Amino acid sequence: MNTKEEMRDITILAIESSCDETAAAVVRNGREVLSSVIYSQIDLHTLYGGVVPEIASRKHIEKINQVVEKALSDARLSLEEVTAVAVTCGPGLVGALLVGVSAAKAIAFAEKKPLVGVHHIEGHICANYIENKDLEPPFLCLVVSGGHSHLVMVKDYGEYEILGRTRDDAAGEAFDKVARAIGLGYPGGPKIDRVSDLGNPEAIAFPRAKIVDNVYDFSFSGLKSAVLNYLNGCRMKGIEINQADVAASFQKAVVDVLVEHSMEAVRRHGVKQFAVAGGVASNSHLRAALEEACKRQGVRFYRPSPVYCTDNAAMIGVAGYYEFVKGVRHGWDLNAVPNLRLGDKI
Ligand code: KG4
Ligand code: ZN
Repeated sequence: MNTKEEMRDITILAIESSCDETAAAVVRNGREVLSSVIYSQIDLHTLYGGVVPEIASRKHIEKINQVVEKALSDARLSLEEVTAVAVTCGPGLVGALLVGVSAAKAIAFAEKKPLVGVHHIEGHICANYIENKDLEPPFLCLVVSGGHSHLVMVKDYGEYEILGRTRDDAAGEAFDKVARAIGLGYPGGPKIDRVSDLGNPEAIAFPRAKIVDNVYDFSFSGLKSAVLNYLNGCRMKGIEINQADVAASFQKAVVDVLVEHSMEAVRRHGVKQFAVAGGVASNSHLRAALEEACKRQGVRFYRPSPVYCTDNAAMIGVAGYYEFVKGVRHGWDLNAVPNLRLGDKI
């Protein structure tokens, strides 16, 4: 590559700390991940059966500099060579977000680099661009994570229309709560995914919630209660609980609803490309069911590798790049916004 081409490169240093992963990455020209470092706090929070916000913030403070340094050294770049710094500023745990936002501001200020605040959900959606170089908007994206379940029309880079969202629990949250109830522990999603392979998804008829006034909206709290009631009923009657059957039947109920709502939107909106994103997108049963449904509808199906489904900074680097090339820059007053909605002005 000659110097002129090198000068046109846009290299983003990205930071993510919205929940329990301390992550940094370097992304070149939007889709080339030069490095992606993730320090997962899962082992720490497993002791408490879920994420403890205060512990998460403290661990982020401890790890953030190491993670940023490793991302730069893995990419064989110095801070000077970075074009801009992107950081998740919401939604998420406020204390956790603040660590990343403060670190990004300090680095950008000291190195005189532009600063770009990124919406976490936009990051999840953009994870699809990393390995699918041909994917361009418009496409429909199902975002399913621990905190969110959204059906989003990606009209253009950075332009989103939310067709549906959860009315109560997020899909990942339901996985985590049900896993805890059947004794699988935290984090529930991957454990239910694995245990389900041994169970019968038709063993127990759990409900599939329908929302009358918006066919695209989701509700998972009724399903969670149905699982808890089933477990209580079994205990009271002295019936032994088949963990794998409960896991598989619960998972099937979630997957059925996610696929059905997604395909309803595909049909009604004449969608040609469909993508899935977020931690729950790494669920093997959901991936297979969506792929099959898209094939039947003649729609192209995209999904990130599991490592780019769960929280990471590479996806923030991709989203940050598309915001940066649109001219988005943030000031030193950039703040953490725990309940930031997709489409809100940052
Ligand atoms: O995207 P993510 O890392 O964090 C948020 O932004 O929330 O998602 C974490 C969620 C957790 O609820 C976790 O249980 C779920 O994603 N998850 C899964 C799987 N892997 C992670 N859910 C179902 N199946 C999986 N294989
Ligand atoms: Zn996330």
